[in-house]
Amino acid sequence: MLSYQHSYHAGGPADVHKHVALCLLLEHLTKKEKPFCVIDLYAGEGDYNLAGHAAQKTQEYESGIGHVWGASDAPSPVQSYLDVLHRLNPNGELRRYPGSPSLARAYLRDDDRLILNELHSTAFAELGRWARKDARIGVHKRDGLEAMVGLTPPQIRRGLVLIDPSYEIKTEYTGVPEKLAEAVRKWREGIYLVWYPVLKEGRHRALIDGVIASIDVPTFACELSFGAAKPGGEMPGLRGTGLIVVNPPWQFDDAMSEAGAWLAKNLGRAKHTTTWLKRPDDKP
Ligand SMILES: C[S@@+](CC[C@H](N)C(=O)[O-])C[C@H]1O[C@@H](n2cnc3c(N)ncnc32)[C@H](O)[C@@H]1O
Repeated sequence: MLSYQHSYHAGGPADVHKHVALCLLLEHLTKKEKPFCVIDLYAGEGDYNLAGHAAQKTQEYESGIGHVWGASDAPSPVQSYLDVLHRLNPNGELRRYPGSPSLARAYLRDDDRLILNELHSTAFAELGRWARKDARIGVHKRDGLEAMVGLTPPQIRRGLVLIDPSYEIKTEYTGVPEKLAEAVRKWREGIYLVWYPVLKEGRHRALIDGVIASIDVPTFACELSFGAAKPGGEMPGLRGTGLIVVNPPWQFDDAMSEAGAWLAKNLGRAKHTTTWLKRPDDKP
């Protein structure tokens, strides 16, 4: 049974890191007139009420978005994300934290499409309510790993897949790279954004090693590490937040370096690193 509920963790440091990258990728997709499709395989509820019981119980958002919401010196890769948050909270007070579906919807044009997937029954019901009446959005209730292969490639062949599991099931650390490699074989030009936890005991290394061994297109990774300090109550042993981007757009690495340096300073006791797992000029 699935027990993870993102409403307890919305707006935490991991969300901030992941959503800065997501907004950069969405912004890139809007640079051309050609329509794009976003597939969000672990969508959660859509958006979150920060005054609600779950967010107030952990107050995790205070150690994430709480540190950056009012910043006046954010570099442009972070500012794009903050601009969307401000548009979604127009009276200047941070009340609702957008989940990945809400951020993606903020960038959609008439012909773009958003495919959402969520397996948890309660979150799926919330997501369905959130997405209703928007004909550009489709909602599925499938296992994320199965859907990664089943839903790719989408009809619109320009786009992005967000892979953001809760890693409640330990086999996800090996399942993600396995299914990702299958999806990349089916949709080589797609951009894929994978979130992973940086864990004290190093279990996430299996995921990174699996990607290095099986993905033969350009792939970039970045991490914000919090050392021994716990960024929130998300998972035992959590030491930081990591992202893998398959087929990153040109200069995405520079943008995430700039964003990472600023976030490391502002989220407190953090260190940021960026690495190419497969360089654009590496031969397959
Ligand atoms: C980290 S949260 C997603 C957060 C969301 N992507 C965001 O950024 O706002 C992970 C979600 O995956 C869902 N989930 C867990 N196991 C799943 C599975 N096997 N297939 C699909 N969804 C799953 C959880 O219910 C949870 O809502």
